[in-house]
Amino acid sequence: MHIVHQITDLRNKLEAHRSAKESIGFVPTMGNLHKGHFHLIQNAVKENDHTVVSIFINPLQFGPNEDFKSYPRTLEEDQEGLRYSGCDYVFAPPQQEMLQGKPEEHTKIKVPRVAEILCGKNRPGHFEGVASIVCQLLNIVGPTNAYFGLKDYQQFILIKKLIADLKIPVTVKGVETVRNKNGLALSSRNNFFSSRELNIAPHLFASIKEICAALQAGNRNFKLLENDAQKRLLDNGFQPDYCSICQAETLKPAAPDDKDMVILVAAHLGSVRLVDNLRVSL
Ligand code: PAF
Repeated sequence: MHIVHQITDLRNKLEAHRSAKESIGFVPTMGNLHKGHFHLIQNAVKENDHTVVSIFINPLQFGPNEDFKSYPRTLEEDQEGLRYSGCDYVFAPPQQEMLQGKPEEHTKIKVPRVAEILCGKNRPGHFEGVASIVCQLLNIVGPTNAYFGLKDYQQFILIKKLIADLKIPVTVKGVETVRNKNGLALSSRNNFFSSRELNIAPHLFASIKEICAALQAGNRNFKLLENDAQKRLLDNGFQPDYCSICQAETLKPAAPDDKDMVILVAAHLGSVRLVDNLRVSL
């Protein structure tokens, strides 16, 4: 496994594979790798000749009051875990390699509407920061396939649109969320929970499953279902941001005759903001 810090170094190494018509799978991450990331990496390893994992905590996607400074930085442990994952290249650039000058002066990519709703409403600039860095990483790696977790469903839809609109020659793959046995989706931010909060956190996915059951039973009173779920979350100690039943591909509010929907929820628990979702095909 090669650990690469410089863009030109990575490009030179990958060029040899491209010339030999070998496929490259790419998993972008912000490090602090857990089973969810390794599931993405397993998919990439299975489906490609070579796998690149990037580790870069992207300052562009954190708001001024968010956890950029305290975001877990565990490069050594991550590299250890990656050694046994089948990953061929770890790309871990220093900030200076990716972003020269002040973040606010860096070129940004805007994905209208998808970036402004749901999480985008409460995290202004977040998706611009994600789109900009993902575009940069795809330009650097030039992968055949790129892998993203479906836990960040809005991010996945945004990246699919970005790639389609900018005609970036890569296939985007969404990989199912890995959960612990209580249903809590794995996330680097789960590390910040106290043991009391860890017991409460699974209620988030439980509330999504209740909505799913109601939809499957024919209930189409979306507003009521959304409001009831938020009330239950509040009663359980969360501060809900939103609960939304949307069309799965466009993230527009669901209509009663839609067959492919997604339930998206975001809520604060203690100092952590959790997101989760579930697709419902009727
Ligand atoms: O999902 C993430 O970890 C990040 O948003 C990503 C895609 C690596 C971009 O920084």
